[in-house]
Amino acid sequence: MARDGVILATHADALAQAAARLRAGELVAFPTETVYGLGANARDPEAVARIFAAKGRPPSNPVIVHVADPNGAHAIVAEWPQTANTLAHAFWPGPLTLVLPKHPDIPAIVTAGGSTVAVRCPAHPIARELIRLAGVPVAAPSANRSGELSPTTAAHVARSLGDRVGWILDGGSCPGGIESTVVAVTPNGVKLLRPGLILETQLQEIVGDLIVTEPVSNSTKPLPSPGMLTRHYAPRTALEIVEDEAELLFLMNLYHTAGLKVACWQPKGSPVEVATGLYAELHALDAGGFDRIIAILPPNHDDWQAIRDRLTRAASPE
Ligand code: TXA
Ligand code: MG
Repeated sequence: MARDGVILATHADALAQAAARLRAGELVAFPTETVYGLGANARDPEAVARIFAAKGRPPSNPVIVHVADPNGAHAIVAEWPQTANTLAHAFWPGPLTLVLPKHPDIPAIVTAGGSTVAVRCPAHPIARELIRLAGVPVAAPSANRSGELSPTTAAHVARSLGDRVGWILDGGSCPGGIESTVVAVTPNGVKLLRPGLILETQLQEIVGDLIVTEPVSNSTKPLPSPGMLTRHYAPRTALEIVEDEAELLFLMNLYHTAGLKVACWQPKGSPVEVATGLYAELHALDAGGFDRIIAILPPNHDDWQAIRDRLTRAASPE
């Protein structure tokens, strides 16, 4: 067996050895098309407990179970309604997470004691091959300390978790850059729990209108998501959000006068391009020794919903 550390996923046998570690109850961080995940055998409650310990994650926050193909989802859930099938057909493998009634065999720690389980079939070839070789469903939250920025490179994982994870499979940068969209599939319809790479409009095209919980598209208020603290996805440097350049200049002036070192971030490019670079740019600013980061929110439009959500949560005081 290779020693602990960052292992190139292209290295011969790396995936087979990582799969063996997962089966043995150990943690393995691995790339997905969204962000890096911190994986454990979802059927092994002790292994899943190691995820919570490594991340410092509140036990009330359930984790997503990753499967190698849509068939793998059937063993995780108690029901597989037609809507789930339609959504899986449209978006899997890919960055959509479905919340459904849980199968009794899934340990309670995975679902934070709740009756539903989140399941997703990632599109990244390394993630899929790893899960397939492990032969078990893989519980995997983002591979960072709880509340911090998600990792989009193996180096980000190493910086956040250090020796709390023995093995990090290095598959380069994650192409998506932000997390999956999370939806609950209920008898009353589909409810958006976390905006993400799959847009609300894309979901509507497949399943019609979603259940409305609060006006999300014209609000900067973070969405409710069970078990999730309001402050999340946050750099260690204090981050503030503004709606436009005028507000940015006002704050910059104020802070410069006070002698503070301020960095600013603004969206450059399409929503897809901005998502890809968002966390990597924030990680870099975080390492830059600034007193404050000020971020200009992208336009209040469906295309930008997930990025506005992440920045709003990152700026949340608690
Ligand atoms: O793209 C992603 O989703 C990444 C990669 C690794 O797959 N994973 C990820 O996991 O972002 P995590 O744990 O950082 O975020 C999972 C989100 C949390 O907001 C959690 O509250 C929600 O999914 N979630 C998990 N299980 C749930 C459940 N049973 N009901 C409602 N929300 C759930
Ligand atoms: Mg996370």
